Amino acid sequence: MIMSNTSEKPTIFVTRRWPDAAEDALKQFFKPTFNEDDVPLTATQIADGFASHDALAPTVSDQITADIIAAGAAGSGRLIANFGVGVNHIDLSAAASAGLAVSNTPGVLTDATADLTLALMLMVSRRAGEGERELRAGEWQGWRPTHLMGRSLSGKTLGIIGMGRIGKAVAYRAALGFGMKIIFFNRSKVTNITDYDAKQIDNLDVLCAQSDFVSLHCAASEDTFHILDEERLKQIQTHAYVINTARGDVIDEAALVRALHRGTVGGAGLDVFQGEPDIHPDFMTAPNTVLLPHLGSATVETRTAMGLKVVANARAFFAGEHLIDPVV
Ligand code: DGY
Repeated sequence: MIMSNTSEKPTIFVTRRWPDAAEDALKQFFKPTFNEDDVPLTATQIADGFASHDALAPTVSDQITADIIAAGAAGSGRLIANFGVGVNHIDLSAAASAGLAVSNTPGVLTDATADLTLALMLMVSRRAGEGERELRAGEWQGWRPTHLMGRSLSGKTLGIIGMGRIGKAVAYRAALGFGMKIIFFNRSKVTNITDYDAKQIDNLDVLCAQSDFVSLHCAASEDTFHILDEERLKQIQTHAYVINTARGDVIDEAALVRALHRGTVGGAGLDVFQGEPDIHPDFMTAPNTVLLPHLGSATVETRTAMGLKVVANARAFFAGEHLIDPVV
């Protein structure tokens, strides 16, 4: 059921529920229409909602197509204020051509996503997923010296692909918290790392070959689509782990599934998937693989901060000011 309230403020169509404090802040400054049942909306529902409101607040699981953008621009829509930092689900060139503004929520989810990346690294290398499944299945036969031996993080090499905010936050934790050696690949030169040693490597194949963990932190784009493809996966050492908290599109999942089943990579910790929430079925049986349902930013603090950032951007826009976090 879609419900709206009725004050004299700019109107905003919100595709999914937010934490209470963020919804309350939105109500203070806007006339929101919430998706009360929090079910995925159809493209037609989103298009109709955008066309009949001043702004659309979608999130990363909505596909904001050129048709939705055209419908919004032909109606009252002027702003797409995304709840999320990733914008690969929005047709940005259609938004730019239609003269719509687009904002996102960078910065506030850096720590939560970096924390979850370390959680995945630990879960996969310490075989915590396997251990929990074994225990819940009633199959634990007690402590023994060779039971579910994993690998330590300390002293290992972490190869980071994409040294933006989240990549750096992961490197900081891994270097200073776990004594890992950091190497990274980034398209532009990164010169502002001072707290820990990190070596930029210009050849991604070399990074893959030298890492004990390969962790992806690049934005999804045409340039990064399948950046970890079959050939690059072949460079990865057989004991090494692949970690993805970025987007499913950055890995050739079919190739990763094959590598996991053949044992040519040591394991994977994945929080994001191509076409999620549908998952490549062979991930379910892949050895030493930890699968999470896109939880990178899922803390109350972070999700609230994301909502407040949407509110701040929309307030700036409707006050005639520059967006705080402009995308288009
Ligand atoms: C984002 O904001 O892009 C994240 O993937 C949500 O966790």
